[in-house]
Amino acid sequence: MVEIFGELDPPPRLLMGPGPVGVDPRVLRAMSMPMLGQFDPAFTAYMNETMALLRQIFRTQNKWALLVDGTARAGIEALLVSLIAPGDKVLVPVFGRFGHLLAEIASRCGGEVVTIERDWGSVFTAEEIERAIKTHKPRVLALVHGDTSTTMAQPLDHIGDVCRAHDVIFYSDATATLGGMPVDVDRWKVDAVSAGLQKCLSGPPGSAPITFNERVVEIAKHRKHVEAGIRAPGVVEGNGPRIQSNYFDIAMLMDYWGESRLNHHTEATSMLYAAREAVRIALAEGLEERFARHRLASRALTAGLLAMELQLFGDQMHKMPNVTGVVIPQGVDGDGVRRMMLDDFGIEIGTSFGPLHGKIWRIGTMGYVCRKESVLVCLGALEACLRRFGYKRAAGAGVDAALAIYNEKKA
Ligand SMILES: Cc1ncc(COP(=O)(O)O)c(C=O)c1O
Repeated sequence: MVEIFGELDPPPRLLMGPGPVGVDPRVLRAMSMPMLGQFDPAFTAYMNETMALLRQIFRTQNKWALLVDGTARAGIEALLVSLIAPGDKVLVPVFGRFGHLLAEIASRCGGEVVTIERDWGSVFTAEEIERAIKTHKPRVLALVHGDTSTTMAQPLDHIGDVCRAHDVIFYSDATATLGGMPVDVDRWKVDAVSAGLQKCLSGPPGSAPITFNERVVEIAKHRKHVEAGIRAPGVVEGNGPRIQSNYFDIAMLMDYWGESRLNHHTEATSMLYAAREAVRIALAEGLEERFARHRLASRALTAGLLAMELQLFGDQMHKMPNVTGVVIPQGVDGDGVRRMMLDDFGIEIGTSFGPLHGKIWRIGTMGYVCRKESVLVCLGALEACLRRFGYKRAAGAGVDAALAIYNEKKA
């Protein structure tokens, strides 16, 4: 019996969770462009253009800014497995789920992982991180920039200086922040950074932009090993421990994305089109303008939530502008509200993980959905759903407060 199912026909949704968010239609259009061979000069030119675009969004002069094919954690794995040799000490400050993820990946790379922890909803001071560096003397510091699980953004300025002073390699996960708030790779002296497309860049999940500097290149060269089937005579290999993954070996990725164009994987053509378009759109808007748009949406959304007498989650001084945590009011069925938002309004908002599961909702205002209409519609729907679940406050207060913030900008 042949079973072919129906043609794909996804229901229309407004994706306002912590990611993925709605994809910009221009990115979807770019993804439908025809295939090219991976060594077609037209395609390698697109690869080079993508590198140039990525350097601008990462605000870096690094030669190496490229895509790892896979979701954001593919970018994390590529950098950590290439940086961490078995036995290397790795310090991971954990302030949410994704710090635990970095610690887990670093330990799978054979790293000797040391963690320091903060309560979810807060971030570290630079002094706390410096103290831990002095105590543990790690080779690598792996630090999340924006942790979507808690909605907090860890300030990264000053930490690069501390790392340089103690000869530590500084890696950061900017999956949730790139394109929505500043990620100043060079100014902050971050040696290696990875991200994803499906949050503030409003692309689909499946491509991970990364960048790294010469300090990282030196490590990768020292560990360089080329597959026998493609190794050219005279190629110089490193004498350090071989990088433990073939797919995520950044030394081989450099050979593929660089002048030698040595074949590695087959670049994910449509995802490269998507990434190129997503970053092009962000740069055309203007990064400062884009960050301001995210800050404004955050101000309007939080004003609306407070007007509904809801409590915001976490240290508001360090909240990311692109995701907002809301405490689920006592006695309200948080999953029931989310289900009603989806079923009756077609709006997705997020739950959270670990200690925050069932305690907060997370509302994303990222990239293409970071718009006045989305904020207003989401607040209106949330209010209606909350009323159904027994939480009744002044009708219309949330939308009114958010509108007032948007109108304030016009005045
Ligand atoms: C901060 C952070 N890092 C890493 C990831 C993992 O991304 P992916 O699911 O694309 O692998 C996420 C996803 O939500 C994230 O928010």
